Amino acid sequence: MKDKSRNRVLWTPPEETVRTARVKDYEKLRKRANADPPAFWEERAGELAWYRKWEKVLDDSEAPFFKWFTGARTNVVLNALDRHQKTVVRNRLAFIWEGENGDLRTLSYFALNREVCRFANVLKSMGVVKGDRVTIYMPRVLELPIAMLACAKIGAIHSVVFGGFSVEALHGRIEDSDSKVLITADGGYIRGKVVPLKEIADQALERAACIEHVIVIRRTCEDVNMEAGRDYYYDELLALPIAKGSCPTVEMDAEDPLFLLYTSGTTGTPKAILHTHGGYQVGVSTTLEFAFDLRPEDRWFCTADPGWITGHSYVVYGPLILGATSVIYEGAPTYPYPDRWWRICEEYGVTVLYTTPTAVRGLMRFGEAWPNRHDLSGLRILGTVGEPINPEAWQWYHRVIGRGECPVIDTWWQTETGSFMITPVPSFPLKPGSATRPFPGISAEVLDEKGNRVAPGEEGNLVITTPWPSMTRGIYKDPDRYVEQYWSTYKGKYLTGDSARVDEDGYFWIIGRKDDVIKVSGYRLGTAEIESALVSHPSVSEAAAITLPHEIKGNAIHVFVILRSGVQGSPELEAELIEHVGKEIGKIARPEGVEFVDGLPKTRSGKIMRRVLKARAQGLPEGDTSTLED
Ligand code: PRX
Repeated sequence: MKDKSRNRVLWTPPEETVRTARVKDYEKLRKRANADPPAFWEERAGELAWYRKWEKVLDDSEAPFFKWFTGARTNVVLNALDRHQKTVVRNRLAFIWEGENGDLRTLSYFALNREVCRFANVLKSMGVVKGDRVTIYMPRVLELPIAMLACAKIGAIHSVVFGGFSVEALHGRIEDSDSKVLITADGGYIRGKVVPLKEIADQALERAACIEHVIVIRRTCEDVNMEAGRDYYYDELLALPIAKGSCPTVEMDAEDPLFLLYTSGTTGTPKAILHTHGGYQVGVSTTLEFAFDLRPEDRWFCTADPGWITGHSYVVYGPLILGATSVIYEGAPTYPYPDRWWRICEEYGVTVLYTTPTAVRGLMRFGEAWPNRHDLSGLRILGTVGEPINPEAWQWYHRVIGRGECPVIDTWWQTETGSFMITPVPSFPLKPGSATRPFPGISAEVLDEKGNRVAPGEEGNLVITTPWPSMTRGIYKDPDRYVEQYWSTYKGKYLTGDSARVDEDGYFWIIGRKDDVIKVSGYRLGTAEIESALVSHPSVSEAAAITLPHEIKGNAIHVFVILRSGVQGSPELEAELIEHVGKEIGKIARPEGVEFVDGLPKTRSGKIMRRVLKARAQGLPEGDTSTLED
């Protein structure tokens, strides 16, 4: 399907933006970088601190298990904290944090380093050593980045589980990573309510024997169960002499693991995506600096939770490496009123705002009066991530929040890619809804099933054709699945799982996932996870999950359920099943609608034909059903 109307350049940035931009000629930089990507990345790596420089920039001898900066010694904390202690950055604010209840806390780079050292000393005293896994399950408070950095500092591998996930999701991730320590909180605040994190953690721990110690941060100060000999309050640990003083940063190999982050794949349970110290720090800092033109005078507000890759790369590591000041807000954007973010932007002088299309659509619904109450003139750049942005939301964001002057940086990337892959820079002409062009040093293509490039405007599979430093080093403990899922469709090319188009001007238009991964409100989930949560309910014998278009969320989950014999479908059971999925995985996975059916359309080999279900649910033609079983 061609769509030529989208082909016009709709917005060129103001002259002033181009004149002062870090990257003035994006195409020229891309041409130079793509002529020799390793040389480009080596130049970028030269901007960072290393204990010892690399022998080789790119080692492709075991492709697709690429290695970057081999032989180099470093630690992401050396760049995020240590080197700033010797410069004026030490006195700059690293974080400005606002709690949903109005609490305020700021940390300079000096203070952040002190807190990280203390937390690292506590972890060491619990016997955590290089290579150990630590699960972090926290609300959006400053102890979350502090805990991540403390792990990295001593060479432990952090695995952050989003605080919105529930018992099953947390349990699975703790067990799979074989974590020794769990860092959590008594609870967290969202929409004025308390999320009982410790209670959920206790349930998850009932079946997770690997955890030796639990560190509990007091956020709500409500009474929680504390198991003697296993659970400790963080503030009590900090008061011990062991926590005092500095803590040396452990020298790591560039290829040593930094973190695991679980994300949904095409089949089965979520998989742990592995990232390492060396290449990751080069990727996140370069992309943030170029795409958002971050400067010392900026105040950066990335609304993502550190529980997702966006939070890892662009709340924690990227901004800290650049010595930037970040604003973190704990709660919901609509609490207590839908102007919370706009008030935060005004109050803390935010200059660059980075969020999701779902959030933009959600806030747009409340009208212009809410943002118009606030002085947003400090904003100079806006950004989005996580899903395609529809032109209406783009226009509203650009016009109402960005005064028609701020570029909207639409960044396409994934948990696996570690940093931005396709994105404009502020000086580049934009087309609303397009992430524009691949980042310098990145080569992307859209291919047909046979591996040929499709014609301009035609839909196909989005692939990345050359390695890049912040690419995942694979799926933890499952190298075969990594090769199979990402590198086996087209030899030597990384399969993203997304479908896309490239127009006549070379602009990329992301259409959506082509596999059984779904994006709801920008969150990534697997149909398999939702289905297995449903089947774990005693009334359900079989289930299929699909998404249907949704005005605010982009997509909403709909499920088809076959009940066990003798069980009758009812509105009560529907509500119970929705709740059940919420309890098993998390609220973000709750289906919008449940349909009770007697059978599911399947192929002769027994695979559920979700495409047919989707067409039926929308009253559309079912397409080719020749593989449908009788
Ligand atoms: O489908 C694409 C969508 O989000 C997927 C990656 O999800 P996740 O690993 O959770 O990372 C999200 C944050 C980086 C992609 O495969 N996606 C991400 N950014 C965009 C997008 N779709 C369209 N436009 C984007 N800017």
